[in-house]
Amino acid sequence: MKKWYAVIGDPIAQSMSPTMHDAWFRENGIEATYIPIHVKVDQLEEAVASLKRLGCSGWNVTVPHKHAIIPFLDQVDEEARRMGAVNTVKVLEDGSLFGTNTDGRGFVRSLLEIGGNQKEVGELLIIGAGGAAAGISFALESAGFGPITVTNRTIEKAREMSESFIEGNALSLDDAQSEIGKFGLIVQTTSVGMNFAQSGIPLDPTRITEGAIVADIIYNPLETEFLRHARVAGGKTMNGVGMFVHQGALAFELWTGIYPDTKKMIQTISTELGGK
Ligand code: ATR
Repeated sequence: MKKWYAVIGDPIAQSMSPTMHDAWFRENGIEATYIPIHVKVDQLEEAVASLKRLGCSGWNVTVPHKHAIIPFLDQVDEEARRMGAVNTVKVLEDGSLFGTNTDGRGFVRSLLEIGGNQKEVGELLIIGAGGAAAGISFALESAGFGPITVTNRTIEKAREMSESFIEGNALSLDDAQSEIGKFGLIVQTTSVGMNFAQSGIPLDPTRITEGAIVADIIYNPLETEFLRHARVAGGKTMNGVGMFVHQGALAFELWTGIYPDTKKMIQTISTELGGK
């Protein structure tokens, strides 16, 4: 029987995951399909039961269900448990549900793909202390990157994250701003600049060291104001398309055992977003 996969969220119509996974199924000769399913907050438990009953082999989870889905799963790996968020579910052979989170590892893969490596990058600055920042920091630390400094508008959250979640330091935005020249990798994880809705920059990257890698996990727009300033200042910039594609590729690998072609997909998605 043809296998099927899904992504659940609210809203869901804008999701690029179905096109991406369907292309990968085709490219790899796999008889399967991937569909978007609109699931509202109060429908989550019923949706999980239905996906299982209807023979779905696995699904992605997006806003607002990443945390809420955890109690409905049978097993959740350490990374997802620590982050308190699941973005990928696999239905195991015995029918039980396994949840993981590929967002942070997806970021690391996309960083490695552009040539950022543990030895050369040196000190890291993470801007933001929400769920995305936690996943990325954890994955970077696990991959041997560091030392990590976290800065956030609400400094207490940066402290909490840097003490309980990773072995890092916390700085206020003002202090991070003054010390920005010492970081070899700066990762912007806040929502500032997303969808053109929140204009502005969380931190001014004008005085970064030339050649520092500056990443923004936002991919719409492809170049946020923050990233543009960093590029003009001589930074090597990376937008969020790579992280998006690699988090999907890691899910695809979990389901099929194959790591799909990410370079071509990054180009396809960038072209599509750039044309909008
Ligand atoms: P996500 O799971 O996507 O990381 P989140 O957990 O809501 O989302 O975290 C959002 C992050 O963006 C937080 O670090 C937040 O800062 P606060 O902890 O101070 O709220 C940050 N953020 C959101 N809007 C911001 C703004 N206008 N300026 C600076 N930081 C902002």
